[in-house]
Amino acid sequence: MTALPVFVDVDTGVDDAMALVYLFASEDADVVGIASTAGNVPVQQVCHNNLALLELCGVDVPVSKGSENPVTAPLRTAEDTHGPEGMGYARLPATDRALTDYDAAEAWVRAAHAYPGELTGVATGPLTNLALALRREPALPRLLRRLVIMGGAFDYRGNTTPVAEWNVSVDPEAAAEVFHGWSTAWNGESPEHLPIVLGLNLTEHIVMTPELLGRLTGDGAHPLVAVLEDAMRFYFEFHFACGEGYLAHLHDPLAAAVALDPDLVRCRPTTVDVELTGTLTRGMTIADWSNRWGRDPNALIGVDVDPAAFFERFLTRVGAFTKFLSREQT
Ligand code: RIB
Ligand code: CA
Repeated sequence: MTALPVFVDVDTGVDDAMALVYLFASEDADVVGIASTAGNVPVQQVCHNNLALLELCGVDVPVSKGSENPVTAPLRTAEDTHGPEGMGYARLPATDRALTDYDAAEAWVRAAHAYPGELTGVATGPLTNLALALRREPALPRLLRRLVIMGGAFDYRGNTTPVAEWNVSVDPEAAAEVFHGWSTAWNGESPEHLPIVLGLNLTEHIVMTPELLGRLTGDGAHPLVAVLEDAMRFYFEFHFACGEGYLAHLHDPLAAAVALDPDLVRCRPTTVDVELTGTLTRGMTIADWSNRWGRDPNALIGVDVDPAAFFERFLTRVGAFTKFLSREQT
């Protein structure tokens, strides 16, 4: 199986960590770089979580530190959702692994130039560092083979304000720059190169439960199992406290799985833009399905997914990975 080069931009976070583990567990993925973005927790903590997760999984990938803050807005974080250190109740191992000596935006650009036309980008946090990379390399959209973004909410309520989803809400300006940048680079040609955008309208169909988690963690021999269980327990408790039930939405793992296999979701091309000045609607993602704006499509919006198909793949791969690590450690 030929492994695809994949660059991941995360605000690790519980579901970002699950997405990273899925990619590490996937033989068809070669993770060539990780950008740490401020979001669920401050960027220093995101960096620590990423380096410690690599230590835990025995994987070597360059990790870069992103901007301390969104491109213009003040930083907001979500320790209530992901825990004080972003990994729920989980304790990650100590590590002496170091960050790259270049920043996350540079890491995006270097990876895209190292794999011209072959690199798949996955963004599961605020788009701050992707926007900064785009400023540094306006040709980025044409250098990437594919981009998958977890963000936004399309004809669907928000999870941060009544209309805004977290990743876009933290840095709406960056999200707007990314959607505009892809418009400019492709101006209506090659729709297959438009970013696949997975909003809450889709990702909230991916519902992890304690039963499914139990199938994932199996004999539980490797420390990764306890980390996943302890991280998810905090995430379950947060969703329960929000009245959604003792469950958790796996937003970011869906983005990771779609990056390796876009056929997991059905998408519709449209023009997307982001509200920046609305008193009540700042951070809202708008899909112009009726082409009222008369602009070329700049995104492929995910509109349908088979959760069973996703979970079959996710549980199989991550379950096999934890067993492999257990055997390796003996
Ligand atoms: O709104 C869900 C998104 O915000 C996910 O990426 C989650 O990790 C948080 O970053
Ligand atoms: Ca995230």
